Amino acid sequence: MRSVSKVKVNRFPPYRGLEWNRKVSNPDNPNFWKYGVTDLIFLDFTRNKKLVLDLGCGTGGASFFLAEHGEAEWIVGVDLVSDMIKVAKTNAINKGVDRKMSFLICDGRHLPFKASCFEALISRGDVFCFLVPLKRTVQELKRVLKSKGIIVLEMDNRVDWKPGTIISTSFRKTLDGEIAYVVEVFTTKRNHKATSYILDPNGKIAKGVMNDSEFREKGCKSLKYPLQQIKEETLEIKHGVPTHWPTAKELFTIFKGSGFTEVMVMGDGLLMKLLLDGDETIIKAMKRDPQLFFEIEKRLVRYVNPEKAPTLILRAPAP
Ligand SMILES: C[S@@+](CC[C@H](N)C(=O)[O-])C[C@H]1O[C@@H](n2cnc3c(N)ncnc32)[C@H](O)[C@@H]1O
Repeated sequence: MRSVSKVKVNRFPPYRGLEWNRKVSNPDNPNFWKYGVTDLIFLDFTRNKKLVLDLGCGTGGASFFLAEHGEAEWIVGVDLVSDMIKVAKTNAINKGVDRKMSFLICDGRHLPFKASCFEALISRGDVFCFLVPLKRTVQELKRVLKSKGIIVLEMDNRVDWKPGTIISTSFRKTLDGEIAYVVEVFTTKRNHKATSYILDPNGKIAKGVMNDSEFREKGCKSLKYPLQQIKEETLEIKHGVPTHWPTAKELFTIFKGSGFTEVMVMGDGLLMKLLLDGDETIIKAMKRDPQLFFEIEKRLVRYVNPEKAPTLILRAPAP
């Protein structure tokens, strides 16, 4: 058996700026729909807030929506991945909103701001799953928020992942163009662990995968493969960035325990479920008028059981 020379733990989440930008603006991608609704919710909950922090801002989508439609005088976007910030800065200039916002690279768990500076903190996408341990991060967020400042966040609930199971095994092309066999596990503590076995491109398995039409077309293929065989052609093992996916109840408890008042956790996903279930008629109607979908879904979030919803929305004013 080949001995694996290197085991690496990724320090950065695998996001690429331009690629992410394309994804979120494509109606064929569920994020386009989720984020359109989220933006409206952010707008409603941050009215009258002048100084806003967008945590894990990515390429800046939520920040731009607030800059264009809200009352914020200044928005600061932070993200750990430099590629995301680079695209966010370019987008700001192209949209003509760069005079009321700034973007910087930093870890959302250790913010380079003095205490009590922001009136609102928004966070769209699954940023919070990366901010482990969450309890400590929430203390840090409380530190930078002014009294009565508000946090509004949106993240996936992973209701479809059963704790304590292997959730997928697949061959994938990595962002660096390598071929990897990826095993994803969701632990009983709701931590997501992804292990990528980077395959020797000249090995039998990698060559077979490259000849597979589904893999060539999509850059991935779900398949269970004997791990022993995979290991024999593995050049390197990469462990993904650790993530944790709290339940609605856990999020509520952490924020309440940190002194946040009137914590509200909502779920969204009534129309989203129809969208994901692939009903053609509904998808067509939604694409004809995305704004209408966003408005309706925004009103539905209060009626969805957050424990069962695909997406969680938390609103918590600081003490
Ligand atoms: C799913 S993307 C969402 C991006 C953006 N909020 C949006 O809505 O388009 C998650 C983002 O979280 C960022 N991220 C992950 N870990 C982070 C950390 N520790 N500190 C700051 N940002 C982080 C990633 O780089 C990525 O841009």
